[in-house]
Amino acid sequence: MGRNDSDRGDLRRFENLTFDDFRRMAKDPSLTDAEKIGFPDSYRLGKEDIIYEDIAQKLTLLQDRGRVVVDIGPGCGALPKRLLEVCSQQDHKLVFIDSREMLDQLPDEPFVKKIAARFPDCPDILSELRDRVDVVLSYSVLHYIFSEANIWSFFDHALSLLAPGGQLLLGDIPNISKRMRFFSSEAGVAYHQAFTGDDSIPRVAFNRIEHDKIDDSVLLGLLSRARASGFDAYLVRQGSELPMANRREDLLVERP
Ligand SMILES: C[S@@+](CC[C@H](N)C(=O)[O-])C[C@H]1O[C@@H](n2cnc3c(N)ncnc32)[C@H](O)[C@@H]1O
Repeated sequence: MGRNDSDRGDLRRFENLTFDDFRRMAKDPSLTDAEKIGFPDSYRLGKEDIIYEDIAQKLTLLQDRGRVVVDIGPGCGALPKRLLEVCSQQDHKLVFIDSREMLDQLPDEPFVKKIAARFPDCPDILSELRDRVDVVLSYSVLHYIFSEANIWSFFDHALSLLAPGGQLLLGDIPNISKRMRFFSSEAGVAYHQAFTGDDSIPRVAFNRIEHDKIDDSVLLGLLSRARASGFDAYLVRQGSELPMANRREDLLVERP
């Protein structure tokens, strides 16, 4: 079995995880930090810097000073630790919202508040932070909300946090429509063949129900909802060097 085959097996192992699965994985000493947040090591290790830079290009207020930053679902990998360093340097206040088990893996700092909750089931912090947050980040989280909870409620509550001028990034969203467009292309076939090490053609079917998978209609619906609620919203590409840029994209919202 080649490296790519084993990666694919690993990815399947991390499909359809729930909030409670993540709680359990956070405490499992046999897992690496990347595995605790649902990624095979090959998808994250050594790539955190380019992922963070891609995020920072979109969330420009992170380069400002003295802002309020919220990370919904930070997990316990290198990304929240990098965010923590930036917030320290830039004098931001940082709020992490995730399970107690995940939050326990992250360092405690005076400028960091940890809220152990399943967003948006945290009424106190929602009312405390309403209209006050400059940067909201939720990276590689939305697809778990889509299959397990109410994506609209999650989105509306995340929007409600934004201060005027504030920015929200729902990042690293797997889009099954984008994936199918890619695997129907020449580039996608070549990618698949390099992945499998044979000359098979990837199977793509556009006309079937994709249970629990986000597609164009979901992302365009979220975009419309944000715009109808008074926000500017954009679907934006990931840098091509990011590990899953051919099938994932980001949703960026700004409050005018
Ligand atoms: C795939 S990990 C992503 C971690 C991190 N954002 C990253 O990209 O490195 C998903 C994280 O979202 C958290 N999560 C899932 N549903 C959540 C919810 N409703 N509220 C807060 N955190 C949630 C999980 O506990 C887990 O830590």
